[in-house]
Amino acid sequence: MQIFNNRRELQQFALDAKRSGKTIALVPTMGFLHDGHMSLIDIARQKADIVIVSIFVNPKQFAPTEDFDRYPRDFDGDVAKCADHDADVIFAPEIDAMYDGNASTWVEETVLAKPLCGASRPTFYRGVTTVVAKLFLLAQPDYAVFGLKDAQQCFVIQRMVRDLDFPVEIIPAPLVRDADGLALSSRNRYLSADERTRALSIHRSLLAAKARIQKEKAFAPALEEAVATVTAAGGRVDYIEILDCDTMLSPDANTRQVILAAAAFFGTTRLIDNEIFAL
Ligand code: PAJ
Repeated sequence: MQIFNNRRELQQFALDAKRSGKTIALVPTMGFLHDGHMSLIDIARQKADIVIVSIFVNPKQFAPTEDFDRYPRDFDGDVAKCADHDADVIFAPEIDAMYDGNASTWVEETVLAKPLCGASRPTFYRGVTTVVAKLFLLAQPDYAVFGLKDAQQCFVIQRMVRDLDFPVEIIPAPLVRDADGLALSSRNRYLSADERTRALSIHRSLLAAKARIQKEKAFAPALEEAVATVTAAGGRVDYIEILDCDTMLSPDANTRQVILAAAAFFGTTRLIDNEIFAL
C-alpha cells in the first residue's frame, strides 16, 4: 500500500494508472475509520483495479464554532484498517498540501444542499463539494463510493457530478449500524455511555415514524411523535423532516422515494440518521 501526502504526486500516480488502462475507485473520508467506512472500501475493491482512500479532515466544511480542532484522528489505526481491506493507496495531505493559502475558488450546489444539514450548517456543503471536486481531479476515479449515512451529501455529489460532467460514477453505499441500531459515525466517540444509550432514540423514532407514515399516509403526526421521542430521551432535535429524494422538497404526487432524516444533539454531539423508502 502506498501513502501519498502530496496532491501532485497523487495526481501523477492516478494519471499514469489511467494511461496504463487501470480503473480507479475512490473512497473519500475524514479518517477515524469504522466499519461504515470499511464497507465503502470493500465495495470500491470489487469495482476497480486500484482503490484510493483519502483521509483528510477538511477545514472548509467546518464552521468556526464546530468541532474541527477536536475531530477524532487515528492515522496509524486507519492505515492498518486500509491495508487489511486491501486498499492500494492512502491520500492523506496536510491542510496546506491540499489548499494553497490564497485559494479562492468554491464549487457549490445550490438546490439539494439547501434543506436539512444545509439549513443548520449553511457553509457545510460548499466545503464538501469543493474538496470532493478537488479529490476527483486529483485521484481521477472511475468510481467514487459515498455512504447513505450522509444521504443528502451523496445526492449533492451526484448532482455536482451530473452538472459539471465529472467522468465518475457515484456508488451509494448502505448505511451501516451498530448491533443496537445506532448509525456508525466517527463522532459517536464523543458520546458518554449514557448519551449513547439515549441516542438510540433517533433510529427508534425514525422507524416508528416510517411505519406510521406508511400506514396513515400523513406526515405531520408521525414527525411530531418522532420529535417528542427524541426530546423525551434528552436529545435536542435539530430537524426531523421528510423530503423527496430527487428534489429535496416536500413529497408530492410525483415522488418516488422519500428520505426521513433526523439530526439531534446529545450533549454537544450532533448526530444524523435517516431512513429512505417509497411511500
Ligand atoms: P466521513 O464522515 O469520514 O465519511 C466518509 C464516508 O463514509 C461518507 O461517504 C459517509 O457517508 C460514509 N459513512 C460514514 N458513516 C457511515 C455509516 N455508518 N454507514 C455507511 N457509510 C458511512 O463524509 C465525509 O467524511 C466528508 O464529508 C467527505 C465526503 C470525506 C468530504 O470531506
